Amino acid sequence: MTLTITIANQKGGVGKTTTAVTLAHGLVRKGKRVLLVDLDPQGQCATILGLKPEPGAFNLLVSEQPLGQVIRATDRENLFVVLGDRKTAVAQTVLNVQRSPISFTQNKICIPAARDSIDYVILDTSPSVGELQEQALWAADGVLIPCAVDYLASDGVFNIAITLKRIHDELKWKGRILGILPTFYDSVTRESKATLQDLQKRFGSLLLPPIHRATVLRECAVEGKTIFELDPSSRAAEQYDQLVGFVKSWEK
Ligand SMILES: Nc1ncnc2c1ncn2[C@@H]1O[C@H](COP(=O)(O)OP(=O)(O)OP(=O)(O)O)[C@@H](O)[C@H]1O
Ligand SMILES: [Mg+2]
Repeated sequence: MTLTITIANQKGGVGKTTTAVTLAHGLVRKGKRVLLVDLDPQGQCATILGLKPEPGAFNLLVSEQPLGQVIRATDRENLFVVLGDRKTAVAQTVLNVQRSPISFTQNKICIPAARDSIDYVILDTSPSVGELQEQALWAADGVLIPCAVDYLASDGVFNIAITLKRIHDELKWKGRILGILPTFYDSVTRESKATLQDLQKRFGSLLLPPIHRATVLRECAVEGKTIFELDPSSRAAEQYDQLVGFVKSWEK
């Protein structure tokens, strides 16, 4: 069975892409076949993997090319990607005006991925709202919400939760929130600790163990490597490995 995980938060810079790429590579290292799809015009999944952005998502969603034509193998065995670039913004606009069914993105990506024996589809989304984001959420079996532990952290989470409730009630979404992932956690600052406690109070068991602020994660994008390649013995690698374990336990 193929599981689709969508990484979402309308707030920018909270660690969505870092989480999407690291989770995808982490699952691959545990023997899974994973397809990572970049649905953000910034095309940063490519950067972290040391690849060049290309209009894969646009060609899939607008030019009607089948998944088989836009999917790329990477030099990490069993990690496959559909990359994005600026043209994904055109796809966002087209989907906003086109009134395509909510299942459009799922049909384009997840159904053919399942035929291709992919274990996990990971959808990285952009920090905005619109039809493409909504279709990506609707396609998810589980939604993972990275959330930077700073001022007003819970606002972004609430916004996604409201959208999810609406697509559940009105469009019969069958997935669930996999978890809320606190990121940029700094155990030294009082603000970080207080925000984490506040998130815990509001979201209870949905809150996952935090990922600390780590300069090495920033270096990953510069080097074109995941944390498991750049510094596998770092605390960041260990914390993301825990997340991979959590996601794998959810499989059963
Ligand atoms: N835990 C962390 N500690 C320090 N830096 C981090 C951490 N997680 C991500 N970063 C860095 O912060 C920046 C933003 O992260 P990322 O691109 O993953 O966020 P995003 O939510 O995808 O952003 P956007 O909303 O623009 O798509 C990047 O430079 C990334 O390398
Ligand atoms: Mg991003």
